[in-house]
Amino acid sequence: MISIGIEGTAHSIGVGVIHGNNEKCKVLSNVIKIYKPKKGGIHPREAANHHAEYIADLISESVNKAKIDFKDVDIVSFSKGPGLGPCLRTAATAARALSLSLDKPIMGVNHCVAHLEIGRGTLNDCKDPVLLYTSGANTQVIAFAEGKYRVFGETLDIGIGNCLDKFGRTIGLNFPCGPKIEELALKGKKYLELPYSIKGMDIAFSGLLTAAEHYNKNGEKIEDICYSIQETTFAALTEVTERAMAHTEKDEVLLGGGVAANQRLQKMVNKMAIDRGAHSFVPSKDLCIDNGAMIAWLGLLMYNSGMRMSIEQSYIDQRFRTDMEDVSWRD
Ligand code: ATP
Ligand code: FE2
Repeated sequence: MISIGIEGTAHSIGVGVIHGNNEKCKVLSNVIKIYKPKKGGIHPREAANHHAEYIADLISESVNKAKIDFKDVDIVSFSKGPGLGPCLRTAATAARALSLSLDKPIMGVNHCVAHLEIGRGTLNDCKDPVLLYTSGANTQVIAFAEGKYRVFGETLDIGIGNCLDKFGRTIGLNFPCGPKIEELALKGKKYLELPYSIKGMDIAFSGLLTAAEHYNKNGEKIEDICYSIQETTFAALTEVTERAMAHTEKDEVLLGGGVAANQRLQKMVNKMAIDRGAHSFVPSKDLCIDNGAMIAWLGLLMYNSGMRMSIEQSYIDQRFRTDMEDVSWRD
């Protein structure tokens, strides 16, 4: 079957086309446009305007790149949430228009679950992982347990990507700051003490952000601060992930979200996995970041498990929790 997926939870508007059965997903195309605010953080309305401007072209481009015809599409999927209301509404509206014009079923999916399923669908031997999902707005450790995807740990304040972007802005970097901080961190030598706040299985980043800003004001080297931020936050993320693996007795860990592109994070998680006799997996970068292909794939899995959604039911849910959906597509 062929599924087209529209992703639009935050900065990115993406459209992907996949071909799949219930086991494996083949990505035929995955195109994306990223809204970059000229200064400051993301403005939801402006991001939605950006998405509205590009969505029609992206849909055509994804179909052309996939070398299919619109009539080959079996199902239209979109990100139902969580995310920013105006952005979600823009993507959902496009999905409804496409579904109605092609006369094909529609399926709204959970964005966070899609990050996990795309790993299972595209990576050999990745069957039942604990997902460390680290993006701009989201930081969650997710795994399948008793019929649902459950959150075993998450941020209590901002996402790790936001933390990196906020610090980056204070030192004059442009969005996205994560990759530039990664480069600077490579040149850091001195570890500066930062708050390492894990509460139960959850993590907080804002105290660390304030402390890092103080170091900057006090003239510490930028490279050393970046290095220390990475070492501290990634160690905390790895610790929570390891505890979730121990608790659920799973021996696979999957990375997802934009921050998963970071080599230092990948290395730390991989070392933790090897130390406990487990395996770590990282999807290709285009499947780690927010993308339409993962939405297309989860929509197909849900549809094939017998789930259906009418146009009236295809509303968005800004606060769509990871554990709200009964996972009927796996046992
Ligand atoms: P959402 O939270 O809705 O999934 P998003 O649009 O913030 O959305 P992504 O596209 O998954 O998410 O990720 C963007 C984030 O990833 C930004 O915060 C960016 O700084 C960070 N990022 C990208 N590359 C790297 C890297 N190499 N190291 C660290 N962070 C990175
Ligand atoms: Fe995401």
